[in-house]
Amino acid sequence: MSKTLVSSLKSAPLVSSPLRFWHRGQVMNPGNVPPDRTLLDLLREDLHLSATKEGCAAGDCGACTVVVAEPVNGRLQYRAVNSCIKPAHAIDGLALWTAADLALPDGTLHPVQQAMVACHGSQCGFCTPVL
Ligand code: FES
Repeated sequence: MSKTLVSSLKSAPLVSSPLRFWHRGQVMNPGNVPPDRTLLDLLREDLHLSATKEGCAAGDCGACTVVVAEPVNGRLQYRAVNSCIKPAHAIDGLALWTAADLALPDGTLHPVQQAMVACHGSQCGFCTPVL
């Protein structure tokens, strides 16, 4: 990459742009989102969806994992994403689920969540989120 191009990229302003994605059967439109905003910060700070936690903030622990899906050959293809290192704009047009979406709308826990409660499941503490 030429020095001129690198120099102009470094001085280019970060321009916020619209972002839309599916969540809980609705289109989420958080408005203009800066290009350097992480998905984790968008969820927790902008949308107040606090089920997704920050542990290491470096893509190592998985505390921030969410699921995204996109249509591929007429079917949804799901993948787990570390939201702490994923730009928010990477999910533009996709569908998103967080840990909070496992439970039923009436609060009934998913069997996996219930098993964690029943068996006193916890993380080791290295990456256990505070909030
Ligand atoms: Fe640890 Fe994202 S907070 S992987």
